[in-house]
Amino acid sequence: MGNTVLEISQVEKSFGKHKVLHNVSLKVVKGQVFGFLGPNGAGKTTLIRVILGLIRPDKGTIHIDGFNLQTNFRQAIEHVGAVVETPKFYPHLSAYQNLLLVRNLHRNLPKSRIPEVLEIAGLSARAHDKVGTYSLGMKQRLGIARALLNYPKLVFLDEPMNGLDPQGIIEVRSLIHQLQHQGISLFITSHLLHEVEQVCDQIAIIKNGSILTQGSLTELLRSDLEVVEIYTKDLLETHHALADVAFVHKCTITPSFLLVELDRGSTEQLIRFLVKRNLHLQYLIPRKHSLEEFFMELAYEGSIS
Ligand SMILES: Nc1ncnc2c1ncn2[C@@H]1O[C@H](COP(=O)(O)OP(=O)(O)OP(=O)(O)O)[C@@H](O)[C@H]1O
Ligand SMILES: [Mg+2]
Repeated sequence: MGNTVLEISQVEKSFGKHKVLHNVSLKVVKGQVFGFLGPNGAGKTTLIRVILGLIRPDKGTIHIDGFNLQTNFRQAIEHVGAVVETPKFYPHLSAYQNLLLVRNLHRNLPKSRIPEVLEIAGLSARAHDKVGTYSLGMKQRLGIARALLNYPKLVFLDEPMNGLDPQGIIEVRSLIHQLQHQGISLFITSHLLHEVEQVCDQIAIIKNGSILTQGSLTELLRSDLEVVEIYTKDLLETHHALADVAFVHKCTITPSFLLVELDRGSTEQLIRFLVKRNLHLQYLIPRKHSLEEFFMELAYEGSIS
């Protein structure tokens, strides 16, 4: 196990006849921010519920910090924190009082841990205000504070940016970075791809209950390729000419430009080729192959569904 904080192996789950998780396997390493991406209904929350022991898998095994969840539940779950969907609180009680209720359910948690987690979540100044007066972003951060009470090594955040305004997103993002710096591993679900791209270093993409792909951001973004847009008066002719060029992997024609994936470092060669062939190159724009495009390719490609 060593460096692995979460290992999921061949997990399956059905609700009635509806199979929601198919043969799901993944691994989260210590200190990692793991992004679990997928469209609505893909099975993200269901997997988190399975990992937290809230529902039973039909098949497969789950190890947290080396402990088998099925046979050693207490030890497996002892240092896990989670915010699943929208966190709920008593609105007429303060943040401090809400956390005190949770703290009282735990053995051996000092009261001093409450102001500590409120400080981490940036809520100290409002700790004694009623939660009913909190913004959505503050409630989300209070949810994270609650998840931190038991000194977790691994924290699950289910759609932590959902419904937040830009300021709220920035605050949660900086909180995520702060937790990562403290050595806490994070498992974050989202369909806000741009956010995942900014905070996660390892990604898995799930669709219809199956993991389509997983890997480091750099692997998934294919660092060996670069993408450029070519603007020319001869779109068709250029498209045709690029078909047999060895360093060009893919060339897609759009109404106003060609989208070309090519070997990293071969843009200069491409320009020389186009000029030599007299293909009326007007200009060329380098384009970042964003995770969003990657996600769209995978999640909506007909062949995969
Ligand atoms: N308790 C349940 N009983 C029956 N079906 C369920 C249950 N929980 C989830 N499902 C179904 O399982 C599928 C996956 O749901 P899940 O909530 O895990 O998706 P999700 O990826 O979290 O989606 P979202 O992005 O909307 O949160 C959906 O089709 C959902 O209707
Ligand atoms: Mg969900």
